[in-house]
Amino acid sequence: TTSEFGLFGLGVMGKSLCRNLANNGFKISMFNRHVAGVEEDVAVSFKAAHSELSQAEAFDDIASFVNSLQQPRKIMLMVNAGKTIDYVIEDLLPYLSENDVLIDGGNSNYVNTKERFDYLKTNGIHFIGTGVSGGEEGALKGPSIMPSGDVEAYENVKPFLEKISAKDQNNLPCCTYVGPEGSGHFIKMVHNGVEYVEMQLLAEVCTLLEASGNNPDEIATILESWKDTANSYLLEITIAIFRKKEGNDWLVKKILDKAGNKGTGNWTTIASTQLGVPSTLIASALFSRYTSFYKEERTLLNKHFNQADHLELKVSTNDILEAYQFARIINHYQGFKLITEASIAYSWNLNLSEIARIWTSGCIIKSNLMQDLVDVFKNTTNILTDTQFSEGINKYKPSVKKVVSQSVLNDISVPCLGESIQFFNGITTAYSSANIIQAQRDYFGAHTYQRLDDDSGKNYHTNWN
Ligand code: 6PG
Repeated sequence: TTSEFGLFGLGVMGKSLCRNLANNGFKISMFNRHVAGVEEDVAVSFKAAHSELSQAEAFDDIASFVNSLQQPRKIMLMVNAGKTIDYVIEDLLPYLSENDVLIDGGNSNYVNTKERFDYLKTNGIHFIGTGVSGGEEGALKGPSIMPSGDVEAYENVKPFLEKISAKDQNNLPCCTYVGPEGSGHFIKMVHNGVEYVEMQLLAEVCTLLEASGNNPDEIATILESWKDTANSYLLEITIAIFRKKEGNDWLVKKILDKAGNKGTGNWTTIASTQLGVPSTLIASALFSRYTSFYKEERTLLNKHFNQADHLELKVSTNDILEAYQFARIINHYQGFKLITEASIAYSWNLNLSEIARIWTSGCIIKSNLMQDLVDVFKNTTNILTDTQFSEGINKYKPSVKKVVSQSVLNDISVPCLGESIQFFNGITTAYSSANIIQAQRDYFGAHTYQRLDDDSGKNYHTNWN
């Protein structure tokens, strides 16, 4: 018998997805490259290690792998994002038949996904670019899946992807057809941008709790008590991280303070600047990671400027919780704003409520707040005009003002908390300072300006001297 579904690439995510597919009763073929005699055959040893893979077929030869699949073939690529995808596509192409479907489940750039989609179309092959979130465990037990491409091609892979995905609170799959070409990878990219901010906010909050005199166990206990109002997957793992001990000391205190990244936060920031959308929290979270990398310079300048280490932080635990909640609302507002604007610019017709829904389970940014957004987006695209969320903003605002001010007075860096109130003050200013920018532009470059007392759109120029 032939296999129903192929999985190309047995890295951490590929392996977990194979087991997930097999656990759900699908007959699969698995491919992993290996150099004979030099390395072990990963596909074979992986199959042998897991009983659920007894029916699965393992290959290290592309032709046999492709020929083992029912037509139209469905092959999911789980290889490193970037050029590798193009090489794999070229390797597979000679063996594929018209209407076969390739699925890219990596963190690919949405612009490349569109190019690959167009290229494969000219070869009669369908391409589904899909975001997959949830890490190793999510991939095994049910990830959030964000597929895009031709809707007809999606119908072919839908039974597989929806079956292996996480399920929401109504037991519906956290997998839905997102939209055309690269839209699935676009929303996965924004998911990661929102993820960067949620992580950074927790890092800032924990720093403030520590500066208030709490040890890691006490921080974990405080965060635990926040679950009632602010629960999320990232909150849960942060609690577990703060509890983890190595010997007599907490592991978290032994970790080098340089944050890595694989580029998706960078892409989100680039996309937002290209689309003209102020995703300021994502940029702040990204740049915080970059700042962290200057460890030597930070250490040097810390001494040079005699930054405060005797802290007199006049904030309560509840102030910190409310500031955190305020910033999270702004984060989600900005993330979905970016998706909204991309949807308009690229005519993707994205459904925000459905996107929020497939992010309520399986993915890294699942949270109570995300669950609330599923309904909010049924009525509005703007979170800040929703009654529940605007009440939250009004309630939390005094705390974010206090927490950010106190942080500044105590020389504590809180870029995302700080940017949340700065952005909020900007987006709620009816008459901004941009009139001055316009005057300056006109002064030095005759770039012209429009006038408040003339709504015809006419451009004015003044001879300023
Ligand atoms: C997910 C994660 C996942 C991965 C990112 C992290 O949704 O499962 O976002 O895709 O953890 O690659 O990215 P950084 O390495 O840039 O932090």
